[in-house]
Amino acid sequence: MEKTAIITGGANGIGYSSAKQLASLGFKIALIDRDTQKLENAVEIIQSTHNVECKSYIADVSNEDESELAYDRILAELKQPLLLFNNAGIMPRQLGPVEQLPTKNFNEMINIHLNGAFIWSKLVIPKMKECGYGRIVNMSSFMGITGSPFRLDYVTAKAGLVGMTRGLATELARFGITVNAVAPGFVLTETLKERVTNGFIDAEKISERTPVGRWATPDEISSAVAFLMSDKSSYITGHVLPIDGGTAMSLLIGENIGSLS
Ligand SMILES: NC(=O)c1ccc[n+]([C@@H]2O[C@H](COP(=O)([O-])OP(=O)(O)OC[C@H]3O[C@@H](n4cnc5c(N)ncnc54)[C@H](O)[C@@H]3O)[C@@H](O)[C@H]2O)c1
Repeated sequence: MEKTAIITGGANGIGYSSAKQLASLGFKIALIDRDTQKLENAVEIIQSTHNVECKSYIADVSNEDESELAYDRILAELKQPLLLFNNAGIMPRQLGPVEQLPTKNFNEMINIHLNGAFIWSKLVIPKMKECGYGRIVNMSSFMGITGSPFRLDYVTAKAGLVGMTRGLATELARFGITVNAVAPGFVLTETLKERVTNGFIDAEKISERTPVGRWATPDEISSAVAFLMSDKSSYITGHVLPIDGGTAMSLLIGENIGSLS
């Protein structure tokens, strides 16, 4: 059966990298994003590199009407949208104590990450049930597993995606639909490079605190996404896969190593 993979936030970063991996496996590609320019570039490169149909759809994932319109066009143009990667997201607009976090920032974060994933899951599930087949992968973060101070909007949204993954996985398991999540550590995408350049985050400190000693590349995340989207992951559902170089499981205390006596 020919299958189409929908990738939200597919114009850039991890989403774009995942689109390329999935195209190389022969899936048709539907990219959803609100960045028109980057969407055009992404489609052009995927079409010219891989022998698959790839189309872009401009929509804000948190807008139900825009998303419905885009999904109807995907159904008509690409058919069989049986794979969904709920990846679209933004980084916190500011870091700081919760009492200074503007409610509008919190709501925006929840809207894009959680409502966006909810809206798109709701859209794709009827067709998946009809076909008795589906793969949904949600983009969480190691911060949704461990917690992290001064970004309650982001941590809450990413932890919510863990709950959504488990709830959906149990509800959909009997329909041949698997639902999993990936929980990356720090990934060197353009968006995070910018944050390093403008001093928002300290790239070297992060490398030091990561057990493997470096950041991830987008491809190191998308290869796991591609596996979870493939037939090979058929008995894996409700799983949250850390892809974080060991960050979530480690506590690097910073002691001096040596003997006390
Ligand atoms: N980069 C990291 O270190 C990292 C780590 C863990 C999790 N993540 C998550 O991975 C996802 C992708 O991150 P990235 O670093 O590739 O970011 P990115 O900025 O490179 O790409 C995100 C894409 O999502 C799109 N987008 C944002 N809001 C949207 C909306 N409302 N509707 C439609 N499209 C929208 C953007 O236009 C962009 O193309 C995000 O959910 C992010 O939280 C990233």
